[in-house]
Amino acid sequence: MQQVTIQITVNDEVYIRTVPANTTLLQFLREELQLTGTKEGCDEGECGACTVLVEGHPMNSCLVLAAELDGKHVLTVEGLATDGRLHPLQEAFLEVGAVQCGYCTPGMLLSGIALLNLYPHPTREQIRKEMEGNICRCTGYARIADAIMLAAERLDPNHTNNA
Ligand code: FES
Ligand code: FES
Repeated sequence: MQQVTIQITVNDEVYIRTVPANTTLLQFLREELQLTGTKEGCDEGECGACTVLVEGHPMNSCLVLAAELDGKHVLTVEGLATDGRLHPLQEAFLEVGAVQCGYCTPGMLLSGIALLNLYPHPTREQIRKEMEGNICRCTGYARIADAIMLAAERLDPNHTNNA
């Protein structure tokens, strides 16, 4: 297999690695960088467990080749906490019980953050639509939606949304 040398910034750290050209971003993160927070579920773009943000946009890391992301910025679940503090969405997930087996949670968090960037005060309908690519077989989606709404409130407490 042909090898390619790529430079990818993950969670604000620059990595330069030579990998087989067919290495997916998911394999690159988990096997090359040992960032195992990003989970492998279906490996075919159906479950969302492998979701990361690329240049701020959610992407299934099992579907994209690492070589295609040369020069890009990736955010994974390991990059969410800052200065030893969980991201408000992580805190909200814990607080409302939106985490059970936790397998889907990293992908949910990244999709949730992309959603909050798009809709700082989302309605339940917007949450349902934006999160439909992330499958959770444990919690039902009500608590995940509760957590996203709680995080929205904490990130912008002066905003009222009656939607
Ligand atoms: S593992 Fe990538 S979408 Fe399921
Ligand atoms: S918490 Fe188990 S699949 Fe989501």
